[in-house]
Amino acid sequence: MVESDLNGQTALVTGASSGIGAETAFRFGASGAYTLIHYYENPKGATEVLEKIRRAGGDGELISADLSDGSSIAQFIGSLQTSHRPIDILVNNAGSLIQRRPFLQITEQLWSDVFTLNLTSAFLTTKAVLPSMLQRQRGCVVNITSVAARFGGGIGAIAYSSAKAALSTMTKGLAREFGPNGIRVNAVSPGTIDTNYHKKFSTREALDAAVAATPLQRLGTATDIADVVVFLCSEGARFIQGQVIEVNGGFLMV
Ligand SMILES: NC(=O)c1ccc[n+]([C@@H]2O[C@H](COP(=O)([O-])OP(=O)(O)OC[C@H]3O[C@@H](n4cnc5c(N)ncnc54)[C@H](OP(=O)(O)O)[C@@H]3O)[C@@H](O)[C@H]2O)c1
Repeated sequence: MVESDLNGQTALVTGASSGIGAETAFRFGASGAYTLIHYYENPKGATEVLEKIRRAGGDGELISADLSDGSSIAQFIGSLQTSHRPIDILVNNAGSLIQRRPFLQITEQLWSDVFTLNLTSAFLTTKAVLPSMLQRQRGCVVNITSVAARFGGGIGAIAYSSAKAALSTMTKGLAREFGPNGIRVNAVSPGTIDTNYHKKFSTREALDAAVAATPLQRLGTATDIADVVVFLCSEGARFIQGQVIEVNGGFLMV
């Protein structure tokens, strides 16, 4: 069943093979948007999202790229530019810590890979998509940042939290520059969300401590975040611009 009307629109969600991106892509697809489901190492997850969208009456396609690698990003951007489907909704969601490392053990290569994946890929993807939004004088961009950007992140996450902070700042700059053209740009900053991310990077103890420090007394879900992303791209959010919306159960209040 199609939830609401995004018929005729095209959405691109990066990192849509699991977690927040998968739920967000599903929601756009089920709402009638033709949805480009980007993935890298998890084609199975991405395929499941597309199948779920089709079962809900929508459609889309898969697109693969390593967004931590410059030449792979260039190919990805090239395919977007030659596509005949102008993108109306862009969610720059793909991201990762890559490796948790204490500051003194961060190599220049790791620093660069983390920035490429979490920041530069969003810069280049947005740059590729904006000209067609400008032509049509409308569009919606949502960047997925992190609560880590607000406080520096847990131990071993300085490169990641720094890149996410820059992504939040980029969001505000884009909102200023392209607001006059009818393009809305915002960010969602998740707290601790129960996804594959924490299977890779967190211990049970760290997750329990996050729950204990959260007034709503639970981890977030991918749906908690997708709901806000979908809202930001809806008519109800028409006067929201350049905001970084914290969705963290009260873990951090700004
Ligand atoms: N979970 C949290 O607590 C939390 C908190 C704050 C912010 N976030 C942010 O939320 C976003 C989504 O994360 P999630 O929690 O949903 O985790 P997730 O389930 O691990 O999803 C991460 C997504 O990013 C993609 N990705 C990772 N490395 C990539 C690469 N090198 N190239 C291209 N794509 C890549 C993955 O694709 P493949 O698996 O197909 O490779 C996957 O689709 C990320 O930007 C993350 O930083 C998460």
